[in-house]
Amino acid sequence: MEERLDKLAAQGGLLTRREARERIRAGQVTVDGQVCRRADARVDPGAQRVVMDGKRLGAVRPVLLMMNKPAGVLTAARDGRDPTFQDLLPEKYARLGLSAAGRLDKDAEGLLLLTDDGDLVHRIISPRWKTEKLYYAELDKPAGPDDVPAFAAGLDLGDFIALPAHLTILPGGKACAVAVTEGKFHQVKRMFAARGKKVLRLVRLKIGTLELDKNLKTGEFRELSEHERRALYDMTELSG
Ligand code: URA
Repeated sequence: MEERLDKLAAQGGLLTRREARERIRAGQVTVDGQVCRRADARVDPGAQRVVMDGKRLGAVRPVLLMMNKPAGVLTAARDGRDPTFQDLLPEKYARLGLSAAGRLDKDAEGLLLLTDDGDLVHRIISPRWKTEKLYYAELDKPAGPDDVPAFAAGLDLGDFIALPAHLTILPGGKACAVAVTEGKFHQVKRMFAARGKKVLRLVRLKIGTLELDKNLKTGEFRELSEHERRALYDMTELSG
């Protein structure tokens, strides 16, 4: 939808129209890469790229949330029996039909990235992009020094060979950090099972550049900061 450039540059009241016009005349606003000094120019911010102070104006921005998923909650839209991440969102977000960029099992906890940007989800979960995911795992018996090179070599899981993964054994051995670059069904549990260990607790701490906010209690969520958004779009080479 077209609108006047000075109205758009006022960003719904962040600047007065007069301030917006001054910025436009000073050459601080570009339309599709060209400086536009006409305050009354008509632009369509959905179709054209209108930029001021390095920020695109008026474009609908994807929603990006991080949630600290509790155990017992499904990574699914709605289930009818078990609670899902959708059930933990207020209506304002629930109605957007957000998808998770990488599922967690029902009993797994931690970082879920929820968004309405399908391209971003695709890049994060596509094996081609090898996005690293970091997990904290508690085991039924201690991991040993032999497990580290076995994870690094790529474990044979029967139907496929897992890509090399980085295992760090934490003091005591019954807790580990493991970084993987693929996300097949029950991947981390199956990798430990291949080494004779059962995962008793699994928490995702990181997806690529995005780290679970330690201040988010289980079941809580928040919007990503500008910095977190930027880092994810840079990582996936998408313009967000
Ligand atoms: N690996 C698993 O086994 N489960 C998850 O939920 C995520 C990774």
